[in-house]
Amino acid sequence: MTSDDTAAALTRAAVILPYERAQRSNVLEFAPAGAMPRAAEARLAEAVGLAASIGVTIVHTGIHPLRQRRPSTLLGEGQVEMIKQALEEQGATLVVVDAALTPVQQRNLERAWGAKVIDRTGLILEIFGDRARTREGTLQVELAHLEYQRTRLVRSWTHLERQRGGFGFLGGPGESQIEIDRRLIGDRIVRLKKELEQVRRTRGLHRRARERVPYPVIALVGYTNAGKSTLFNALTGAVVYAQDQLFATLDPTMRQITLPSGRNAILSDTVGFISELPTQLIEAFRATLEEVASADIILHVRDVAHPDSTAQRNDVVGVLDEMTEGSDAALDEGWRARSIEVLNKADLLGGTEAIAARSQGGLAVSALTGDGLDRLQQVLDERLSASMVVERFDLPPEDGARLAWLYRHGEIIDRAETEGLIQVTVRLSPTDRARYAQLP
Ligand code: GTP
Repeated sequence: MTSDDTAAALTRAAVILPYERAQRSNVLEFAPAGAMPRAAEARLAEAVGLAASIGVTIVHTGIHPLRQRRPSTLLGEGQVEMIKQALEEQGATLVVVDAALTPVQQRNLERAWGAKVIDRTGLILEIFGDRARTREGTLQVELAHLEYQRTRLVRSWTHLERQRGGFGFLGGPGESQIEIDRRLIGDRIVRLKKELEQVRRTRGLHRRARERVPYPVIALVGYTNAGKSTLFNALTGAVVYAQDQLFATLDPTMRQITLPSGRNAILSDTVGFISELPTQLIEAFRATLEEVASADIILHVRDVAHPDSTAQRNDVVGVLDEMTEGSDAALDEGWRARSIEVLNKADLLGGTEAIAARSQGGLAVSALTGDGLDRLQQVLDERLSASMVVERFDLPPEDGARLAWLYRHGEIIDRAETEGLIQVTVRLSPTDRARYAQLP
């Protein structure tokens, strides 16, 4: 444990969910018949999980139905008072409000409660700050954080404050301090953007290096905590940072796997999705999603035992649709057609067979027990061989670069030389076929 972790653990926090009935559709696809919709409880549990993952101690939680959104405090007067009492009783100094608060609401609540308040966006930014592992990820999160902070009158709850035990913020900065902060933030944003540009150029070089990998790519995507890292480990036998901690995976990890047929592929573990992703973080996601969009197979890992399983699926699909829009058309065309839904955590709902009987598609597995993984590998094998295209290319002998490219990416089935042309018949993945068409 670092001193930062220790200080965070000493922070006593409350998690408050202002709940609007129409907030989320909640179809309980896989829940036992007769189960009550638990949308609010599930949402609170998610928020508590998120808050716990930054290491604070949660001493109070509450769901507060909203009759109307009050511009000054979002919550009703009576609710604000009730929460104040609970905070005092529990000695909580940090309140996570699982909603989007305006800067004014955030400030008013801080005054009313005498505690630091962060909203959902602030919380998610904190988590991303903790989890980012690459240079680019770190820069993007810092940039997102600053942009969020710039619009606020209050200073955000930063690592610095956590080091001080979370007490440094009370009272808040004075107005002139805020002005100075804003100018400093503006300067820092300009510098960060330049640095990011530089890092991106380097990433472009790395990606081109990776494109030379002669195997098809299988990308894992899914809602946070769906079990991607666990599945990744189960399929690769590798140990990746997997734990009951949201967003354990912010940056992609790639490993080579061998399928039952002997075919090799690259398995790529990507980001965990979250609903209502702060707009400031969309950019940070885009980089990793470019990898997803260009994968030969997209494994969408779902937690079928989660009461909000369907809403989570819709979130992931929605984000992917949105993000692949307008990207490289040849690669992104029909990502859905290249995706397979993996219904994970089947062990919690009576095993893979019980799930298979009820679901309308997708493949039931348990990454934890290994149940269903044989079948998944088989399906991956079938998909990869079925989707391969076989094509003949006629190349002039001086076009050594294209020929070399085909040898690197494809499986050469036949080669002949007639009428001064080299004729090669090659088996290629559809994405490689699209890449070939774009070679200069
Ligand atoms: P993020 O990094 O937040 O995106 O999470 P992730 O999708 O990589 O999830 P991870 O693999 O870290 O798993 C989250 C939790 O679910 C862990 O506690 C796992 O042990 C648990 N888990 C994963 N797969 C299964 C499963 O098949 N059954 C059960 N019961 N639990 C599982």
